[in-house]
Amino acid sequence: MPLSRRNFVVSTLTSALLLAGCAQKQDNLKIGEFASLTGKEAAFGQSSHKGTQLAIEEANATGGVLGKKIELVTEDNQSKAGESATVVKKMISRDKVVAILGEVASSRSLEAAPICQAAKIPQISPSSTNPAVTETGDYIFRVCFIDPFQGVVMAKFAKNTLKVRKVAVLTSVSSAYSVGLAKYFKERFAADGGTIAIEQKYSEGDKDFKAQLTAVKAAGIEGIFVPGYYTEAALICKQAKDLGLQVPVFGGDGWEAPQLIEIGGAAMEGTYFSTHYSAENKTPAITAFLEKFKQRFNQETPDAMAALGYDSALVLIDAIKRAGTTESAKLREAIATTKGYTGVTGTTTLDAQRNANKAAVVVAVKGGKFTFVEAVAP
Ligand code: PHE
Repeated sequence: MPLSRRNFVVSTLTSALLLAGCAQKQDNLKIGEFASLTGKEAAFGQSSHKGTQLAIEEANATGGVLGKKIELVTEDNQSKAGESATVVKKMISRDKVVAILGEVASSRSLEAAPICQAAKIPQISPSSTNPAVTETGDYIFRVCFIDPFQGVVMAKFAKNTLKVRKVAVLTSVSSAYSVGLAKYFKERFAADGGTIAIEQKYSEGDKDFKAQLTAVKAAGIEGIFVPGYYTEAALICKQAKDLGLQVPVFGGDGWEAPQLIEIGGAAMEGTYFSTHYSAENKTPAITAFLEKFKQRFNQETPDAMAALGYDSALVLIDAIKRAGTTESAKLREAIATTKGYTGVTGTTTLDAQRNANKAAVVVAVKGGKFTFVEAVAP
């Protein structure tokens, strides 16, 4: 073969291979996920990611969706402000993802939402509970309850179960989640005749809460509500005990992480928080999830973030199937009309505000473990 001819063959072959490579890539249906895999709230992101991963692997094992394999593109925002916007833009423009799953923390979901909305790429947050997340626009969804409900659950729990009438609230002013949950709790607790005797503030990353807790102690309260994330919540419980405060401390879903007990130790005994799911509340869907999770990750008790991460991916896959396309307006419409989808965290029906109405569970810390207390219907 003359040299020129051979070169032609080689280059044609190369192009054919390149084309095949591209075609294969295009054949994958890409879903983006952004999560706090490292940094301050790594427990949230790692757990949520496992659930998401499991759901996608399962879908791929049964043939994928629309005849394609799903490729999960995951980006770590390192729990840092500003990073979610960067990685979400990248996934939309570089990876051409058809939809985005994330985040756990409301502040980070709120960062991504305007970007997804502007690009008309549906975003489904597994577990961000601040109302403003889905209020961003009609391309933004969540598969969990919202904080106006969670605030009511804990206000009622404080009044009816803990029987406290005079409480302190410690809010993390740099967290959209904390500010919102504090507000909804206070509104309901006061409406039910309770007294918010004192409010104190802190910021994410703070380590010393003695000044706030000293003021709280002087106010003669019967309970302390801490609507924050696990690291600060655990430190607050510890320092409250150190100051001799013996009253019950309670919080919301942001408390849920093994680190709560690792950091807080014995000071966490007798504390309570509300969340989305308990592995002890064994419905058939939860039992099946526990088995699959154990097989895949060798971990016995997946938490709420794992369960919601799993459900968020399944709700998206179900919508892609119903839409029969990943064309954004049609996919958006299919997600919006999600109705009666049974997952691990209950049945997902998205309302006109693109939120799910689901039961909450209250968990107690007992013997160094999270134990199921009650489920509260919406
Ligand atoms: N709901 C919290 C938020 O909006 C995040 C969270 C969900 C934390 C579930 C723990 C468990 O910021």
